[in-house]
Amino acid sequence: MGTMKAIQFDRLGGAEVMELREVPVPELRPGTVLVKNHVIAINYGDTFFLRGTYLVKPRFPDTPGMEASGVIAAVAPDVTALTPGMRVAYIGMGAYADYTIIRASRVMPIPDEMNFEQAASFPIAVLTAWHMLHTCNDTKPGEFVIVHSAAGGVGIAAVQIAKAAGARVIGTVSSDDKIGLVRQFGADWVINYEAEDFAAQALSLTEGRGVNLILDAVGKPTFEKGLRCLAPLGHLILYGRAGGAPGPINPLELFGKSVKVSGFAVTMMYALADHHRRALDEVFRLEREGKLTVPIGGRFPLAHAAQAHRFLESRRSTGKLLLIP
Ligand SMILES: NC(=O)c1ccc[n+]([C@@H]2O[C@H](COP(=O)([O-])OP(=O)(O)OC[C@H]3O[C@@H](n4cnc5c(N)ncnc54)[C@H](OP(=O)(O)O)[C@@H]3O)[C@@H](O)[C@H]2O)c1
Repeated sequence: MGTMKAIQFDRLGGAEVMELREVPVPELRPGTVLVKNHVIAINYGDTFFLRGTYLVKPRFPDTPGMEASGVIAAVAPDVTALTPGMRVAYIGMGAYADYTIIRASRVMPIPDEMNFEQAASFPIAVLTAWHMLHTCNDTKPGEFVIVHSAAGGVGIAAVQIAKAAGARVIGTVSSDDKIGLVRQFGADWVINYEAEDFAAQALSLTEGRGVNLILDAVGKPTFEKGLRCLAPLGHLILYGRAGGAPGPINPLELFGKSVKVSGFAVTMMYALADHHRRALDEVFRLEREGKLTVPIGGRFPLAHAAQAHRFLESRRSTGKLLLIP
């Protein structure tokens, strides 16, 4: 089918290992579709993939990227539920390119009214936020929820989904310039966790009772403190480690307040068809009702993927960063 532009890398490292190259358009395999990418969303996990520390390991030369939206260009003969011309979003490797081959089960048709930017932003960030609040936890009105890194891609979605559930949301950020955005998207309180002790503040905001749920992808700097400010029966979900892996926990420490710690990986949810379907329906409903919009913190041409990665790693970015092929 000719050639296309794609980002490739052939050694582990930071943003500098990425190069824009002209490569053959990949070929369909059984059970896959070819998607013409319109908007590619960047995830923090892409920085781990480049360094070789992500769940999936690169095979050189490899193409980074794990979610995008676009239009189906071709389908393998054994794929019957999807047809060329469908507007879709997907989660799957190799998204930093004009075209990507994706397993049909990882492709989601998108509602007519949803634009490609919002569509590119939901397969990972929004579904991660939704599943943590509603599949892993049963978040109820009036409960206190801490969302760490609340201005980021997952964080700003979690703030809105928690508010839609009626929860009281405490967002944390590492610099004051992100506070306004997190408030604008509905957080009741925003704490700069670099400048202040978020656990002490959360205890004081809850009159000593503690919070019901903590969504933590920072890890080492926030995990132990988080355990200290959980309410009885509280729940901490660890879903990332941008600030380094937390140390081991002593399970006996969970006894006193009957709290639980769990982990989450969105890639697992795609195999659980009922959970996945329900999450999609709910997320599309929230978007339709105007209760959930992912702010776009930057749009970069595909060729500037390295610049976009540096911005994401600088901790200055907010919302989702997008690549436009
Ligand atoms: N388990 C899953 O299924 C899953 C799915 C998606 C994402 N994640 C994880 O969720 C987190 C957010 O992902 P995202 O794609 O939405 O990214 P993001 O939040 O838009 O950007 C990363 C944010 O991490 C925070 N951070 C904390 N310590 C950091 C450090 N030492 N260096 C760099 N950043 C640091 C920064 O916000 P502050 O400085 O304001 O805290 C930064 O803005 C990541 O850790 C990612 O790996 C997990």
